[in-house]
Amino acid sequence: MKIKKTYSEHETEALGYELGLLLKNEPKIVILLDGELGSGKTTFTKGLARAIGVIDIVNSPTYTIMKKYKTPDRLKVLYHLDLYRLEGVGSDFDLEEYIDGFGMIVVEWPYQADELLPKDYLLIQIKKLGEMEREFTLTCVGFPCKRAVHFI
Ligand SMILES: Nc1ncnc2c1ncn2[C@@H]1O[C@H](COP(=O)(O)OP(=O)(O)OP(=O)(O)O)[C@@H](O)[C@H]1O
Ligand SMILES: [Mg+2]
Repeated sequence: MKIKKTYSEHETEALGYELGLLLKNEPKIVILLDGELGSGKTTFTKGLARAIGVIDIVNSPTYTIMKKYKTPDRLKVLYHLDLYRLEGVGSDFDLEEYIDGFGMIVVEWPYQADELLPKDYLLIQIKKLGEMEREFTLTCVGFPCKRAVHFI
């Protein structure tokens, strides 16, 4: 487990970037981002995307549930899921299709579908401590993300 703090949107993007660099060569990694509205989940995801070489602008996928981003060389892929509006598992949205695939899979509001979450993941809990202050708790569960959590 590792705890990090940021004090601006830019610092949160940079933290995501730093983590992304440490994870970019993993063939598959699921990152769960757990934190209240406006805590910085999407901002952090922008940094992850930049680290793997995505050049498209990463926005909140709130109204689409999932957005897929490929690097220009098409070698790396990031799936950005936002389950805020997922209404239970009865939905016809096939989360497993992404969770079981390859690439970097980032999930905002993961506990909207906790029955479907994989057993290996990197959990990042974000706390809003003030208007600008955020605390990130990184916990590697099962998956070999321990090195990244150690070095960040
Ligand atoms: N330290 C910080 N890190 C990240 N964002 C910050 C920070 N301080 C202030 N902010 C502001 O908080 C907001 C974070 O927005 P962001 O979309 O990343 O949150 P989110 O967790 O994805 O929210 P949602 O649950 O609505 O998807 C932005 O408006 C940003 O400017
Ligand atoms: Mg968001």
